Amino acid sequence: MSEENRKTLNVYDQTAKVYLSNSIAHDAIDPEKAKRKSMNLKVFLGKTFSPLIDHAKIFEIGSADGETAKYLRRIDFDVTASDVADDFIAEIAKKGVPVVKFDAMTDEFPGKYDGVLAWRVLVHFTPQDVERLLVKVYDALNNYGRFAFNVINRETREVDCEWVDFPGEYHMGAERFYCYYREEDVRAMIAKTKFRIIDFHKEGGDHRNKWLVFVLEK
Ligand SMILES: C[S@@+](CC[C@H](N)C(=O)[O-])C[C@H]1O[C@@H](n2cnc3c(N)ncnc32)[C@H](O)[C@@H]1O
Repeated sequence: MSEENRKTLNVYDQTAKVYLSNSIAHDAIDPEKAKRKSMNLKVFLGKTFSPLIDHAKIFEIGSADGETAKYLRRIDFDVTASDVADDFIAEIAKKGVPVVKFDAMTDEFPGKYDGVLAWRVLVHFTPQDVERLLVKVYDALNNYGRFAFNVINRETREVDCEWVDFPGEYHMGAERFYCYYREEDVRAMIAKTKFRIIDFHKEGGDHRNKWLVFVLEK
């Protein structure tokens, strides 16, 4: 695990409650946009995981408020949510979603899964962290299991990685570590594994956060 990821997890541990209220405040600024984003994510999740067996076992890394895991559970997947910060874990448990404390860098997956999701999580991983995680997720998946994740596109940024505390509604009072990735760099990392890329798209609007979304199959 990189020192940068470890320190960022410490920030989440101390500021998870701020993160949760920021998320609500952010959605309230433009409710229509928030609704659209949530709908797009739901469509993507359905498309990505529905071809798996009925009641497929899905593990979500870095669930934060647990809303995504809650949705996957509602559409009948056997979901395990996870995070590292205790306040996130408490929030997820309140929503009735099975949750475990899990650091993707240092902990072993508690079982085998048909799907793994890391949504807006690898933004806090160095390239070496990502490479390690790819191998770890591959080992935790059943045959034909799927790993869906996204990263922020490097082309929209001036640097590879940086410590940031965003202004406005994302302000946390402490900097978190972010890394940005070129599509070809992620493809090169995936090529070192036994995963097949079965879906890829770019998303994001006119702001700087362009996302590269990958779906891999074992
Ligand atoms: C930007 S938030 C995204 C949360 C949620 N997935 C979403 O899309 O709303 C990043 C999340 O990644 C988690 N995270 C960062 N590094 C992690 C690690 N090594 N293991 C597990 N979770 C991690 C943080 O705790 C935080 O919940």
